[in-house]
Amino acid sequence: MLKRTLLAAALIGFTGVAIADGHGEKPHANPWSNFSLDNTLQSMPAGDATRGQSLHSQMMCNSCHGENGESPSRNYASINGQPAEYTVKMMLDYRDGRRWEDYKQANIMVKLAQALDDQQIADLAAFYAQGSTQAWGYTKPLDQDMHNKVDHLVRKGDFGRMITPCASCHGAKGEGNEIAPALAGQVPEYFVRTMQAYKDGARHNDVNEGMSQFTHDLTDAEIEALAEYYASLNKQ
Ligand code: HEC
Ligand code: HEC
Repeated sequence: MLKRTLLAAALIGFTGVAIADGHGEKPHANPWSNFSLDNTLQSMPAGDATRGQSLHSQMMCNSCHGENGESPSRNYASINGQPAEYTVKMMLDYRDGRRWEDYKQANIMVKLAQALDDQQIADLAAFYAQGSTQAWGYTKPLDQDMHNKVDHLVRKGDFGRMITPCASCHGAKGEGNEIAPALAGQVPEYFVRTMQAYKDGARHNDVNEGMSQFTHDLTDAEIEALAEYYASLNKQ
């Protein structure tokens, strides 16, 4: 039995399609269109940051993501300083089965999101949107060559590889914009993991591959350097 569950988990890792957690099928929502996403975001209730702050500890979000959403661990994403729209979208994506790139990592988020209603999701998102993102404390400084290369990718993109400047969506300082998340101060291990998941197709909750298309031609070294680059930025 245990073996079969492990096998199912391994298959999910490879295909990202067959989704079962040993307790039945997980809901599998249709991919977003710009239209359906806009409509859904507009129909969400207004969030209340004070209620969001209480929920953050009641639901034990703080045990992994830190007191204010700034992750103390290399294993978890920092979620503070995110535009509310992005957090709402992620929670809906976990809840409805659109985001499930890594069984081991995402499982807990799916379970928690399924326990939340729209109002609670809006409240949590309002709380995180209030916080700032600070540089991650343990960055490895990039050598000058790599820094320049990555800085060019961020500000100018790469026409030859059809990579649009990261800054055009994620902001000049990595502060994010609506559904494009803040990247400043993000935990580099999480950044690399999620970029690789976009690249190999395991993370496909982005609308019309609006993010993953830029990852296909990035090398591992570039992804790692981008992670360090953004981790070292303060949003404010
Ligand atoms: C046991 C640890 C744990 C707990 C508790 C937890 N999370 Fe998470 N969270 C994670 C992990 C791991 C990921 C990354 C998952 C992945 O790779 O898909 C994540 C991802 C997220 C993301 C997406 C981050 C991004 O940048 O895309 C959001 C938003 C989030 N969590 C919010 C919450 C909220 C709200 C709660 C409480 C209701 C919560 N988390 C509780 C471990 C946790
Ligand atoms: C056309 C706009 C656009 C461009 C250009 C773009 N992104 Fe994104 N990016 C997005 C959107 C939108 C998302 C959220 C997608 C989703 O819903 O999963 C995202 C998500 C991400 C995430 C996931 C963050 C998290 O917290 O989980 C990372 C990392 C990222 N982008 C890095 C980059 C880098 C590095 C570049 C430049 C090489 C880049 N992006 C270029 C729009 C863009």
